[in-house]
Amino acid sequence: MCGGGAVTDSRAGETEAREALRPHAEDAFADELRALAAADDRPRPERWRLSPWAVSLYLLGGELPDGTVITPKYVGPRRLVEVAVSTLATDRALLLLGVPGTAKTWVSEHLAAAVSGDSTLLVQGTAGTAEEAVRYGWNYAQLLAHGPSRDALVASPVMRAMAEGRTARVEELTRIPADVQDSLITVLSEKTLPVPELGEEIQAVRGFNLIATANDRDRGVNELSSALRRRFNTVVLPLPETAEAEVDIVARRVDQIGRSLDLPAASDGAAEIRRVVTVFRELRDGVTADGRTKIKSPSGTLSTAEAISVVTGGAALAAHFGDGVLRAGDVAAGVLGAVVRDPSSDTVVWQEYLESVVRERDGWKDFYRACREVSA
Ligand SMILES: Nc1ncnc2c1ncn2[C@@H]1O[C@H](COP(=O)(O)OP(=O)(O)O)[C@@H](O)[C@H]1O
Ligand SMILES: [Mg+2]
Repeated sequence: MCGGGAVTDSRAGETEAREALRPHAEDAFADELRALAAADDRPRPERWRLSPWAVSLYLLGGELPDGTVITPKYVGPRRLVEVAVSTLATDRALLLLGVPGTAKTWVSEHLAAAVSGDSTLLVQGTAGTAEEAVRYGWNYAQLLAHGPSRDALVASPVMRAMAEGRTARVEELTRIPADVQDSLITVLSEKTLPVPELGEEIQAVRGFNLIATANDRDRGVNELSSALRRRFNTVVLPLPETAEAEVDIVARRVDQIGRSLDLPAASDGAAEIRRVVTVFRELRDGVTADGRTKIKSPSGTLSTAEAISVVTGGAALAAHFGDGVLRAGDVAAGVLGAVVRDPSSDTVVWQEYLESVVRERDGWKDFYRACREVSA
């Protein structure tokens, strides 16, 4: 339905969604969303596909009365999800804030899919995001031939969400230049988008709201103006609190991604996942898990998201070049690549960690050897 994709015919749509390398959340989880809608007898805000309760169940996972299993999408504090969902049912927009890799984009996509059945009304924020991406632009051929008209107007995803009463998404809000960010103020406070060229305005209908994401680390790139910030309820997504929680998230996602890529399931992956997560957490925290040894942190973020890609990469190696069992040798290169971002400073940090922590650890000989091999 909207630009960028290949799908035009709705009958072809379903096959293509299954064929897509990365289907949208509403397509990938269409069955779950359908089952939730059928079981959901709570009141729904206008134009919502589900009640807030069912949206939260979709995100956190659970079981329906008829036994349908809803897989957890987000693993984290229930309250955060409930605050996020109920914010969307108010006149305030939602800002998901956190360090990279804390599932801000992921949660935003799933919220839009569950609330509006459509996660594609998306503005990707960059330093080059222009006002047209947030408001509207013009089809110049039409404009020159017939002058300004509704037909010549090219609506932004935000404008379409307003007109259709759906959820708009703005990724990386703080990377957008301040003056372009400010064009959202009228949208969020007055719920209207004036089009002075036509002497008209597009008024948001019920059901419209907006989810923005922003990285903590970008602070200072383009600070959110206080006028805009006041239009948002902020929900901060934390890093997983415990190693167990993080292992659980990585294992789930690796399994899902592996299935979508048709990778044979690596058996016995749990031990390596635990190791990758342990290494990432220790380097991130600057101290070993037992709290005894202080270590230096590298320059990169070592997020859960990176742990997921290291293990997925390892699973591909094990599947194609090994015996299908995920081993230390399959993840070592990925770990090294994630840790050493800045060769001049991070190499020293990594070597020190390898020699003083990994080498001494019981049962980690194979991992130490594999890391030495790729570090050389
Ligand atoms: N708490 C979590 N629960 C579920 N998945 C998570 C969690 N934290 C990270 N992830 C996974 O990490 C990946 C990247 O997250 P992403 O949304 O791109 O991060 P961000 O936008 O915060 O940088 C996603 O595949 C997501 O599933
Ligand atoms: Mg993101």
